[in-house]
Amino acid sequence: MSDSPVSTHDPKGDVAPAEASPQEQKKMEQAYAQMKRKMSMEEISKKIKHKVMVLSGKGGVGKSTVSTGLALSLAQQGLSVGILDIDITGPNVPKMMGLDGRRLHVESGRIHPAQGHLGVKVISMAFLLDNEDTPVVWRGPIKLGAIQQFIGDVEWGNLDYLIIDFPPGTSDEPLTVAQSLPDIDGMVIVTTPQEVALLDSRKSITFSESLKVPVLGVVENMSGYTISGKAKPGSEIEIAAPAGKTLKTTADDSGAFSVTLDIFKEGGGKLTAEEFGVPFLGALPFDPGFVRGGDDGVHRIVSEPEGPSAIAFAAVVSALQEQIVEDSGSGLEII
Ligand SMILES: Nc1ncnc2c1ncn2[C@@H]1O[C@H](COP(=O)(O)OP(=O)(O)O)[C@@H](O)[C@H]1O
Ligand SMILES: [Mg+2]
Repeated sequence: MSDSPVSTHDPKGDVAPAEASPQEQKKMEQAYAQMKRKMSMEEISKKIKHKVMVLSGKGGVGKSTVSTGLALSLAQQGLSVGILDIDITGPNVPKMMGLDGRRLHVESGRIHPAQGHLGVKVISMAFLLDNEDTPVVWRGPIKLGAIQQFIGDVEWGNLDYLIIDFPPGTSDEPLTVAQSLPDIDGMVIVTTPQEVALLDSRKSITFSESLKVPVLGVVENMSGYTISGKAKPGSEIEIAAPAGKTLKTTADDSGAFSVTLDIFKEGGGKLTAEEFGVPFLGALPFDPGFVRGGDDGVHRIVSEPEGPSAIAFAAVVSALQEQIVEDSGSGLEII
């Protein structure tokens, strides 16, 4: 017996017309759909110059804030950018991109991204939800099938960058993406400076080895909070900081001063990067404007395009662009 789903062998030497059983027919259709999707993924991949995964070991460290911030900062440079948000557990990318309440737009069997701030194209699992307050429980294969569809059936057009936002942790989603999308440049790992987040980010770095996707670098988020003010020119200022510390500074000739409080701890992201021999891409300040932006749909980079957070993002983006080399890519076999 041959392995082929349809036997065409005839004892007299002629080729008989294929008579496939319904199961065989179904298998053939599935194989055909899979092949078509694979070709489509390769085609799509060619049109997207760079693909960057954004991961964190822990939730709530600001992964979506960083994904949207990277995308907007790249768009500020005039590049064409897309975000693929596959975090079904906390899909807040649409909110941050001013696309709250959008639904999936399908035309002639192809999925069309929505356009958010600065023309950034967005596809989000949230576009599938009827109600964002209802938790979604998808069985593994359905979820993974949806991810493949989100890669193979989306009309991104030509993009300079595709940023992919994931649920926290080392789950199946990054593996599916790494196996489905050819030539991923690498991953960015987001952490906050606390020990527990750092421990989890170490796990993500190890995880990258099993995905065979290089780590482009670590970003430390919520790194410090800057207090600015005015006082008598030249006067000494003391500010009570957490953990009983006192921060001292001197007001300048115009009376302006600013000090940065390390809300959690200092430099943990950098130390983790050094420990694993991966690049440190930079630190992003704690900025309450991110929280407001998440609520009112105007991202900090859009509301203050030249503010301290936008400048910090631009520095992270330029460190990221330095890491991205033309020939980097995923080493996993595409399925
Ligand atoms: N640098 C920051 N400064 C202040 N708040 C932040 C910062 N980064 C993220 N946040 C806030 O922290 C919360 C979690 O961020 P989010 O990006 O959704 O995290 P994740 O995607 O890792 O779960 C949000 O309310 C967001 O506005
Ligand atoms: Mg998120």
